[in-house]
Amino acid sequence: MALNLNTIALKSHKYPSFALPPMANLRSPKFLRASTLSSGSTEVESLKKPFSPPREVHVQVTHSMPPQKIEIFKNLEDWAEQNILVHLKPVEKCWQPQDFLPDPASDGFHDQVMELRERAKEIPDEYFVCLVGDMITEEALPTYQTMLNTLDGVRDETGASLTSWAVWTRAWTAEENRHGDLLNKYLYLCGRVDMRQIEKTIQYLIGSGMDPRTENSPYLGFIYTSFQERATFISHGNTARHAKDYGDLKLAQICGTIASDEKRHETAYTKIVEKLFEIDPDGTVLALADMMRKKISMPAHLMYDGREDNLFEHFSSVAQRLGVYTAKDYADILEFLVGRWKVEEITGLSSEGRKAQDYVCGLPQRIRRLEERSQSRAKEARYVPFSWIFDKEVKL
Ligand SMILES: [Fe+2]
Ligand SMILES: [Fe+2]
Repeated sequence: MALNLNTIALKSHKYPSFALPPMANLRSPKFLRASTLSSGSTEVESLKKPFSPPREVHVQVTHSMPPQKIEIFKNLEDWAEQNILVHLKPVEKCWQPQDFLPDPASDGFHDQVMELRERAKEIPDEYFVCLVGDMITEEALPTYQTMLNTLDGVRDETGASLTSWAVWTRAWTAEENRHGDLLNKYLYLCGRVDMRQIEKTIQYLIGSGMDPRTENSPYLGFIYTSFQERATFISHGNTARHAKDYGDLKLAQICGTIASDEKRHETAYTKIVEKLFEIDPDGTVLALADMMRKKISMPAHLMYDGREDNLFEHFSSVAQRLGVYTAKDYADILEFLVGRWKVEEITGLSSEGRKAQDYVCGLPQRIRRLEERSQSRAKEARYVPFSWIFDKEVKL
């Protein structure tokens, strides 16, 4: 097992170690800033600064999966073709962003845009903070395709590889690409948000990357994506519900349509992990416990708008307060996955495996208890400006 630990031990408190600020009480107290390059030099760090601010990342661990396990994924090629690629939709049957937006080639374009803007007037700023944060998260798609291609045994080796894993990753990316496109165009037309600030945030975020701590391991990587697809399914589902409450059925349809894609993706990724549990229960339960100990960081946890160092924390607090994505959702997702993979029922594990099993099975309840305690503590109301909405203040 090759572990490349590459640490620059600079301590900072600028950014959260994981991306659920609503659960600040669960946060790891120690943050390490590490180079993403193997040389681990501070010069490399400073060279990056013109493109994005110094970002918090953890100790960088690479290639933690034993090389012999790569065979498992090679042997699953046919299985993936039969069981995973079927969850992709043929392009001709897919929705496209244009299906939900005013048609710029039609005579009615201007009227349709005015109607969209009228509907958007009824929606509060705090909702737009959540929708913008979700859009920015989707727009950092190059980072997620890169992340999938860090995974040993399943990466797209050529950029046009014919393996089932590579075909999946490219087609998944192509499906995801519609999410950012649609939300971006909607937000541009609605006239409620500062597009330039949003565009800067996207540029910074793609420049910063993400730090999911999946160590080139497809075990960790597919557990991460299972969790994330469900998290985005929940959050887009909630923005759809809120849009409906504000009387904007078209926006509700936009968010709901994206949510249904996320659900399909969740089905595919959870199926891969289910298969891993079948082939290698010990290795998979250890990977699940490892990911949960490290905590699942949200994909956009390094977001920055050029002004606010705590932008992601602020966005997450608003999302928590509005019920778009909450600490309870985090616990619910874990409980769902533990049930989906029948983790409690696995037998024949090593003693380490049994410990990991106990840990993950008890974790949802522990998270909920901590969350209830933190909720019961009285918090004073805080208002912060968001550059995305022209520096208007929103309650956290
Ligand atoms: Fe998405
Ligand atoms: Fe997705």
